[in-house]
Amino acid sequence: MKIAIIVCAAVATAAVCTIAGCRMFSKRSTDATIPLTAKLPGKAAVVCYSQSKVRNTATVAQWIAKHAGATLFVLEMAEPYPEPYFSTLKAAYKDFKAGTLPALKDIPDLDGYDVVFLGSPIWYGTYAMPVGTFLKANPLAGKTVAPFCTHGGGGAGRFAADLQKACPGAKLLEPLVIRGSNQIERRMGLGVSAHHTEDDVVEWLNRLF
Ligand SMILES: Cc1cc2nc3c(=O)[nH]c(=O)nc-3n(C[C@H](O)[C@H](O)[C@H](O)COP(=O)(O)O)c2cc1C
Repeated sequence: MKIAIIVCAAVATAAVCTIAGCRMFSKRSTDATIPLTAKLPGKAAVVCYSQSKVRNTATVAQWIAKHAGATLFVLEMAEPYPEPYFSTLKAAYKDFKAGTLPALKDIPDLDGYDVVFLGSPIWYGTYAMPVGTFLKANPLAGKTVAPFCTHGGGGAGRFAADLQKACPGAKLLEPLVIRGSNQIERRMGLGVSAHHTEDDVVEWLNRLF
């Protein structure tokens, strides 16, 4: 009984600290404070897919587009996965297990773009299937590809290695790995700005270019 009370108190304390910590961070500005020194070697596009209501990957994509002066394309599924979250998980897992690549509304035309920032949420340890659909249509041969991902706490997993397999003719650069939201944070409406600011993007751009 005593042990159960101690365990419950510890879990409750951890939850309150997490929530308080996230709230504190979520209120800070996301503006960059460090100067951009990167010089991109050509015309740049940002292509990403983002699924959750807090739009973690799309938010990072906007930050990149802003600082790299790149055109932003957000991929959309022809028939989006159902809400709420557990229905999304169920439908997405079915496609993941079957190796099904869901149809997209449009495939952006990247002719004339030299650098492609390619972003995805991490799904089952790799890029999301809609990004797979895009890569099948356009494996980005001859382009410089700067990948970025957001995850729910499990890290980037096989993201970079799987991308290398999906676009063998591209020059892949070091990925930007961003902590997005886990289930609790998503329910609280907390997105990527609870953990990151635009400085993370600027530092990465300065390192790459
Ligand atoms: C179908 C599905 C699978 C997921 N798989 C993982 C995973 O393997 N590892 C992880 O850390 N997060 C996983 N997540 C959480 C997302 O990667 C995370 O919330 C991400 O920031 C969401 O980005 P978005 O807001 O752009 O959709 C998964 C989410 C969904 C919907």
